[in-house]
Amino acid sequence: MKALILIGGMGTRLRPLTCVTPKPLLPILNKPFLEYQIDLLKRHGITDVVFCVSYLPRSFKDYFGTGEKWGITIRYVHEKSPLGTGGAIRNAMHALKGTTLILNGDILTDIDVTKFIAYHRAKKACVSIALTRVKDPTAYGLIETDKNGKIGQFLEKPSWEEVTCNTINAGIYLFEPLALEHIPAGVHYSVERGLFPSLLEQNFPLFGYTAPYYWMDIGTVEKYMQAHADIMANRIKVAIAGKKCMKNVSAGKNVKFGDNLQCDGTLVCGDSVIIDDTVTFSGAVSLGNGVTIGKGTVISDSVILDGTRIGEGVRLEKVLIGKHCVVEPNAVISPGTVLGDKTTITRYSKL
Ligand code: GTP
Repeated sequence: MKALILIGGMGTRLRPLTCVTPKPLLPILNKPFLEYQIDLLKRHGITDVVFCVSYLPRSFKDYFGTGEKWGITIRYVHEKSPLGTGGAIRNAMHALKGTTLILNGDILTDIDVTKFIAYHRAKKACVSIALTRVKDPTAYGLIETDKNGKIGQFLEKPSWEEVTCNTINAGIYLFEPLALEHIPAGVHYSVERGLFPSLLEQNFPLFGYTAPYYWMDIGTVEKYMQAHADIMANRIKVAIAGKKCMKNVSAGKNVKFGDNLQCDGTLVCGDSVIIDDTVTFSGAVSLGNGVTIGKGTVISDSVILDGTRIGEGVRLEKVLIGKHCVVEPNAVISPGTVLGDKTTITRYSKL
């Protein structure tokens, strides 16, 4: 079976990081996000993958090439301007054959793809949509199913009185070729708002797959950070790059820190990280390749990307810092701050 991954969106909610790096290539614990999806596909025997690219398309080709290094074959289908989720799938129709697994390129999940495929076949579905449960159903488009899993209704952001379920579209689908033919060609079109309601109206068999699996859409800063914390807390079982060097610390190659490293939470470092002995870490902290941290700095629940230098006496809490930034000594950066690549924060600044 082939898989198609939608990776052409502009990732506006993750700006400024996505101004330079497309969302699916942003690292999570020092590994481009898309590699977690490729790992998942390979675990379920899928090695033939179509990438639907549009925004910053070269960066995907530059990194993944033909896919050989990952033991997969990648075919790129390019949209000159983004055609939406449906338009992108329709545009790649010539590269597909038979039943296709389709993934949004920003979903971190350990869904059992093999069981999902078996479900789709058993139900003889035209489209199967993986569902996930949410706490606040009023913030999402809900999908209501009957006890056999057959989809009966799509409810767009209902009020609490209208809420009848808490299952939402997880952005993971199985499509039969017939469903592809119902997408109009060459226009901007959404599978969520266009294709699925239209197929339902025409009585095509649409099924929702509900199972306990981890799911996180990494599309906002909060969720991107949460995905790091969830992996570190083993809420999803995926391989973390680097080696475990202390109970709660994993590190890549050539990392330097002293035996007295204070880490109350979990720390993951990339290659060539240098941490002064007097630094204190708490919560979930991820440091990219080549990051340096100066004396007496205190960092909690933060993600710092490649090549960033943090000076002495700095305080960082719940911050996301892009690549090649400089945070000069004694700066204090408060929760929720996001620094784009190459930002410099001067000494004693308070953000
Ligand atoms: P925001 O701008 O922050 O909403 O992010 P986004 O552009 O990624 O949009 P969204 O989160 O809704 O997209 C879900 C998935 O579909 C992501 O993996 C996107 O890359 C992908 N996607 C969205 N629109 C398109 C499109 O027009 N073409 C292609 N090829 N992929 C798309």
